[in-house]
Amino acid sequence: MKKSSLLAVAALTGAAAVVLAGCAGNAGGGTPSEGGGGEAEAGRACVILPDAASSPRWENFDRKYLQEGLEGAGFEVDIQNAQGDVNEYSTIADQQLTQGCGVMLLVDYQGAAETVAAKAKAEGIPVIAYDRPFAGADYYVSFDNVEVGRLQGQTVLNGLEAAGVDPTEATVVYIGGDPTDGNAAMFHDGAVEVMEGAGITPAAEPPGAWDQAKSQTNFEQALTSLSGQVDGVWAANDTNAAGVIKVLQDNNLEGVAVSGQDANVAGLQNILLGWQTATVYKPVADEATAAVETAIALLNGETPEADSELEDGTPYIQVTPVLVGPEEVKDVIAAGDASYDDVCTPDVMAACEEFGVTAE
Ligand code: GAL
Repeated sequence: MKKSSLLAVAALTGAAAVVLAGCAGNAGGGTPSEGGGGEAEAGRACVILPDAASSPRWENFDRKYLQEGLEGAGFEVDIQNAQGDVNEYSTIADQQLTQGCGVMLLVDYQGAAETVAAKAKAEGIPVIAYDRPFAGADYYVSFDNVEVGRLQGQTVLNGLEAAGVDPTEATVVYIGGDPTDGNAAMFHDGAVEVMEGAGITPAAEPPGAWDQAKSQTNFEQALTSLSGQVDGVWAANDTNAAGVIKVLQDNNLEGVAVSGQDANVAGLQNILLGWQTATVYKPVADEATAAVETAIALLNGETPEADSELEDGTPYIQVTPVLVGPEEVKDVIAAGDASYDDVCTPDVMAACEEFGVTAE
């Protein structure tokens, strides 16, 4: 079942809270007890986010929407961020497990989630691979990540077309994501399917990373190797695109097709200013809602319906991503996933007006 709109978690709250009480107890989530109002406690939901540097999404969106969704479903919520450190990841997990978790939602960081999942499973705690895949989870709840890649590939084609460049003759550089993130291969597969299907041959492909500074250095070197000539860049997210765009700006290279992902403020500004062709907007509220619903269903002993499965057989629930170019920036702001004040700073104001991005 594709989830493309907000689902009514709130409506589930009453029933879920009661049923969860027993399950959380069985799963080491703390002894269910009567709260002040006589309502049973749902247990603890333990969440680990990967870092803050790869994308602002984790702290700005995922933390907020998971907190709201899980609390709304009656959980006590513990959300922590491993800050790009695999040792910190496992320390956080051990602490959470000692305190007791009714369910774990893990965003993998460089393979750290797999060990944590094994420990949780040994205690009978359901584990959801949230956004990024890893072995040993009960469910993988994310976006349709191959489709994310296809939208990125389409972005590059659209940018080339706008510049009047034939894809079969275009010089296109690939700046992919961290290969230890299982999503990176899916984004790559989708992007390649569309770009190479249209006749693009990669001119350079440095090692992938989720890192603005590394992407900047990698792209700079690629550009030098191409004697400063480039028509398009497949950038796997807005953070990577920002590194690429810095180099394009330093070299006065305008009109280059550049893709992205996450609808970050910097990405939206780059789109409005014409430095980035589009981004892939992933409404995290929908992803969080899908994850909360999955957690509740698992605790109720149900088998949530999946859209597909990963190669290792993990059921995969997919949320639908959305392509956002200059005309759609206002929709991201209207959805509350970026603020007008953050996007429409003085240097971007004229572009905001041009594309109908207004304060109200
Ligand atoms: C991916 C995630 C993206 C992106 C990236 C960098 O796994 O799906 O939204 O932000 O990580 O953290």
